[in-house]
Amino acid sequence: MDTPFALHTTGLSKHFGEVKAVDDLTLEARRGEIFGMVGPDGAGKTTTMRMLCAVMLPTSGSAEVAGVDVVAEPAEVKRRTGYLSQQFSQYPDLTVWENIALAADLYGVPRAQWHERADELLRASRMREFRARLAQNLSGGMKQKLALTCALIHSPEVLFLDEPTTGVDPVSRREFWAILYRLPAEGVTVVVSTPYMDEAERCTRLAFLREGRVLDCATPQELKAKVQGEVLSLDVAPLRPARDLLRQEPTVRQVALFGDRLHAVVGSAARDLPALRSALQHAGIEVRTVDLAAPTLEDVFIDLTQAEPRL
Ligand SMILES: Nc1ncnc2c1ncn2[C@@H]1O[C@H](COP(=O)(O)OP(=O)(O)OP(=O)(O)O)[C@@H](O)[C@H]1O
Ligand SMILES: [Mg+2]
Repeated sequence: MDTPFALHTTGLSKHFGEVKAVDDLTLEARRGEIFGMVGPDGAGKTTTMRMLCAVMLPTSGSAEVAGVDVVAEPAEVKRRTGYLSQQFSQYPDLTVWENIALAADLYGVPRAQWHERADELLRASRMREFRARLAQNLSGGMKQKLALTCALIHSPEVLFLDEPTTGVDPVSRREFWAILYRLPAEGVTVVVSTPYMDEAERCTRLAFLREGRVLDCATPQELKAKVQGEVLSLDVAPLRPARDLLRQEPTVRQVALFGDRLHAVVGSAARDLPALRSALQHAGIEVRTVDLAAPTLEDVFIDLTQAEPRL
């Protein structure tokens, strides 16, 4: 049966003893999306992906991926999904081509089919000339491209990528995302977790997770529009004492380092800035410039993760 949803969960939960790794999660992603999952360490991103790929059973709740129930038909879910795990899972002592052959074999892809597909995937990721290189001798970015090729070899409908670019240099990250971007046109829905907000920005929709729950799920634009108040971007020195001081100010809702500036969210810049400026100067902090900044996803992330005290 065809469904517009690439995935759909209802009350999905996974408990490890006392730890509610995933807690009553209700989510959906439509086919053709690049669906992002972000959240702090331990938010439950990996556990959610594992259940959706049918490599881990839920404690309770249900999930359908590509129209198939993960509990009732795990083998079929595995056939229709690809999974790039958070740890590098290729064999270091096998070549690029041998690793792909192994993945094709595991998924039962006939040789005539996978040869052509592997060739095509390697060409698309500019990896063809490295076919004979041992996986252990690949750069970080190339390792991830190999992992991606292996995860796509059986032409899955939904591809799960768990922090695929963590630790990869910025140029390779961009190249990796250029490949991801082409997948929806080939009928692949992408579900990706990332700690990088510039990557989150590229997703069609994003789920913010914390402590096993969805705090919000919307497009990047919708999420940014929800930031209440105004964002001040401050060029101050020294930075950290300034941050610590602003944290104590009741008019400042949140404050975080953004490169070599501080972002502080206040109710109204016109009303709140003069007092903040003099408090900083009074503490011997140099205030060079203060600009109004458009909210970024990083502001949203901090807003959501700091919204309520941790339990
Ligand atoms: N096999 C396990 N046994 C016990 N606890 C686990 C197990 N796997 C995960 N957890 C716990 O479940 C919670 C969620 O973990 P999970 O790995 O899903 O988070 P994450 O969002 O992927 O984090 P990270 O950003 O660090 O990868 C954490 O508290 C973790 O310690
Ligand atoms: Mg994880």
